Amino acid sequence: MRSPMAFKKECLIAGLIIGLIIGCMLSFIVMGREVDELRNQVSRLRAEIEQLRGVVPPLRTLAEKHGIHIGAAVEANLLRIKEYAEILSREFNVLTTENALKFERVHPERNVYSFSEADAIISFAEANGMRVRGHTLVWHNQLPEWVTRGNYSREEWISILRDHITTVVSRYRGRVYAWDVVNEAVDEDGSLRKTVWLQNIGPEYIELAFKWAHEADPQALLFYNDYGAEGLGVKSDAVYNLVKSLVEKGVPIHGVGLQMHVSTEYYPAPQDIAANIKRLSDLGLEIHVTEMDVRLRLPAKPADLVRQAEIYRDVLMVCLSSEKCTAFVMWGFTDRYSWIPGFFSGYGSALIFDENYDPKPAYYYILKSLMSR
Ligand code: XIL
Repeated sequence: MRSPMAFKKECLIAGLIIGLIIGCMLSFIVMGREVDELRNQVSRLRAEIEQLRGVVPPLRTLAEKHGIHIGAAVEANLLRIKEYAEILSREFNVLTTENALKFERVHPERNVYSFSEADAIISFAEANGMRVRGHTLVWHNQLPEWVTRGNYSREEWISILRDHITTVVSRYRGRVYAWDVVNEAVDEDGSLRKTVWLQNIGPEYIELAFKWAHEADPQALLFYNDYGAEGLGVKSDAVYNLVKSLVEKGVPIHGVGLQMHVSTEYYPAPQDIAANIKRLSDLGLEIHVTEMDVRLRLPAKPADLVRQAEIYRDVLMVCLSSEKCTAFVMWGFTDRYSWIPGFFSGYGSALIFDENYDPKPAYYYILKSLMSR
């Protein structure tokens, strides 16, 4: 026989268990409703965005109204991917050759040029009414071994560089509207970087490069392009002084490219970028933002994505407020294909579309900035 006390205890425990079960069931029902409600909200938002997509113009149409070009760096092999090619041609009106025209790709042996990748990018651009920025004729990176290991006389170095520039620029005469003629010739401390070109030819390699490019295509806009010289500081002063002296000597230089590889942790103050653009444009030069990306520490947090969007917006707004800033180009457009994770360990998510080709907050901030005036 169980005692009445034991019976009471069992009833109490059973009651508690039943209560717990009912409680859990009720909260599951409530949570389920909340999840359903959230799901509905998300699909309503999706539908609204889809509708907006139909009425909001693409970036390139808005950029045209401001008289600027907006674009991205691209790789030839990716143009075969339907989604990649669709977004590119819908949103942008200028393309930069990310690697296709670098020395090692386009001129792998002394007597061999390989133009197929650049040809593909340029044909794609033309088929879609886009301009092309050619990147880059003279640089210290991505050189073939026959150059880096070469043992030539100064005369031979000069003829190697002249042949390279003349051959590449003439091939695309009238088809590449702007060239990054010399890339990253200035070091962090403001001195000329000790590249093969400086060491074997001397500082005149810079003006020679512009002269040869101009002879090969007198219509093309010729740029000096660099990083870390976007705002104000030692390096940007050095770049300013370099291009000023080129202009004063009558060297055919038409613009300066501000690469703009920045992060949310470090980026130049917008007023410094504006001041730099002002002093460069006072020399009569055009300014292109040439390689913008804003890398984030991974995994990216929602607040970082918003901060990133603000940085893209700030730089674009500075560009829009200068008559002489005529192109805003990013170093790619989708996080699926970006150089950042491979070069900055722990960083990524630097572009305006995510890895699934969905627009990120930065895309909307750029869109809004272009719609704002
Ligand atoms: C990068 C490319 O994006 C990479 O694919 C390549 O492996 C290395 O170069 N500044 C420049 C660009 O001027 O040419 C660089 O491009 C990025 C930094």
